[in-house]
Amino acid sequence: MTGGRFIALEGGEGAGKSTQARLLANALTARGVDCVVTREPGGTPGAEAIRALLLGLDGEGWNPRAEALLFAAARSDHVERLIRPALAAGKWVICDRFVDSSRAYQGGAGGLSDADVRDLHRIGSGGLLPDLTLLFEIDPETARQRLAARDVDGADRIGGRDAAYHAGVAAAFARFAAEEPGRFARIDANGDPATVHALVLAALAKLAGEV
Ligand code: TMP
Repeated sequence: MTGGRFIALEGGEGAGKSTQARLLANALTARGVDCVVTREPGGTPGAEAIRALLLGLDGEGWNPRAEALLFAAARSDHVERLIRPALAAGKWVICDRFVDSSRAYQGGAGGLSDADVRDLHRIGSGGLLPDLTLLFEIDPETARQRLAARDVDGADRIGGRDAAYHAGVAAAFARFAAEEPGRFARIDANGDPATVHALVLAALAKLAGEV
């Protein structure tokens, strides 16, 4: 086992990322890999507090720039207090969303430039990028059905945006994966959890030899 590895799971809502993060962590643990599962926005007490500010339905909401700054601030705390120390200790970090979510939601769909989102990430988190980003892609109608079953109390502030916004998110993610094929692995997330997990393990073969 060499040093730690940083794996991010990305994609729109209802793609099954959280389930796949857990299944991946279990599979790695079974192979003797020390891993940490975390999420964004969140992962530390400070970042979880910012998550409540961002996604809660109280208040009047945030303009796109304030929203991007809050995500970057949450990420900065998460990177400094949890992600970098875990990687330095040789652990694998499995992160449910990371900076590509800011690029897709606040950038592609939200109207900020990609350069601005990356600048915030450079200032906040030293520009840290995952070793591998798994992009979960799902048919919008399948996602809608899964979310209707999951979010019986309604969506959060960002998840509840209209279909055009979420189509913009999906298009931005697809563009990022095409631009950086070495960092991204595209996963067809339409299948059942076991089928999708098998695709994740196959994608991880990229990092094989270290698992
Ligand atoms: P989720 O992790 O439960 O899907 O909720 C997080 C929500 O926040 C989701 O709608 C995506 C959104 N989000 C952004 O808009 N930008 C970001 O940088 C991150 C991490 C999440």
